[in-house]
Amino acid sequence: MLWSIDSIPNQKDKTVLVTGANSGLGFQTALALLSKGARVILGCRSIENAERARQELLSKVSHGNIEVLEIDLADLEKVNKASDQVIAKYQSINLLINNAGVMAPPQTYTKQGLELQFAVNHLSHMALTLKMLPLLSKQSGGRVVTVSSGAQYMGKINWDDLQGERNYNRWASYSQSKLANVMFALQLSKKLKESNVDIASLSAHPGLARTNLQPQSVMANGSWQEDIAYKLMNPMFQSARMGSLPQLRAATDLKAKSGEQYGPQFNFRGYPVLCRVAPPALNSAQREQLWEMSENLIGDFINIPRSKEFLKKKK
Ligand SMILES: NC(=O)c1ccc[n+]([C@@H]2O[C@H](COP(=O)([O-])OP(=O)(O)OC[C@H]3O[C@@H](n4cnc5c(N)ncnc54)[C@H](OP(=O)(O)O)[C@@H]3O)[C@@H](O)[C@H]2O)c1
Repeated sequence: MLWSIDSIPNQKDKTVLVTGANSGLGFQTALALLSKGARVILGCRSIENAERARQELLSKVSHGNIEVLEIDLADLEKVNKASDQVIAKYQSINLLINNAGVMAPPQTYTKQGLELQFAVNHLSHMALTLKMLPLLSKQSGGRVVTVSSGAQYMGKINWDDLQGERNYNRWASYSQSKLANVMFALQLSKKLKESNVDIASLSAHPGLARTNLQPQSVMANGSWQEDIAYKLMNPMFQSARMGSLPQLRAATDLKAKSGEQYGPQFNFRGYPVLCRVAPPALNSAQREQLWEMSENLIGDFINIPRSKEFLKKKK
């Protein structure tokens, strides 16, 4: 049987944090979870956009339990601040969906000097997740879903130049960040199992979906060639609603297990099915190497000791 929004079990009493919830897949994810009764925290970099999304969501789910959180993933200090606000406000959360993302911008570095895609797509989501683990463990069955891309299959970790400082290629950097998403999700799953913590970590990729991702990328680069390419590719794209199904399945299917990845049936499109991760993500030594490098980079700017402690291997 095809897995669709109808397959989502009742989400009443669940609290969900979705990053990038004001647009595209994040918006559709928030909408589906609200319609199933969840309380949804819209994690957005702009509070105005978050409020606009909240109003639009309320026009579709009138009694929706929606809260907003300002979180700019391009600034680790703001990620830290937003995480602390969540910790102060909520007793527990059941689900974290690391969805926000930026694709193939011109070479840009964040306030902390980190390459934008590596920072927004991977490092900040890792930092947020590590900070959220204690809240996610308060109730049984907590889950973290990290949204990757088909670009993971072209991804390569550039160990000697992670930040693209010597040689920046915006597409290679995007693919690297999306491979990093999957490596992180799998390594987190491994560490949680080894620590006997009842939180599952999964990844998902949407295939090709019509969202703001491509127009934003075209605009940032002023690339008319890519604009034409996307127009030609348009028939291959599915709706944002369809594109959100893999992450919704990873987040809510009671049969989905930690370490799994969901993606569309026919690679670019279709209903969500279990799918293989990019081969480099299967190398646990490399996953650990990336974990340690990432944790060190994050640790240079914000404090994450409690979460590190949390994932200590049980003897
Ligand atoms: N659409 C596809 O075909 C496709 C394919 C593969 C993977 N994906 C992945 O799907 C995820 C969702 O993307 P989408 O397609 O839904 O694109 P989208 O419509 O552009 O949504 C991206 C979201 O990320 C947010 N975001 C960007 N930079 C941020 C920052 N610094 N801090 C906080 N939030 C930030 C955006 O906020 P603003 O609205 O403020 O910019 C927006 O809410 C991404 O991880 C993307 O890599 C999408």
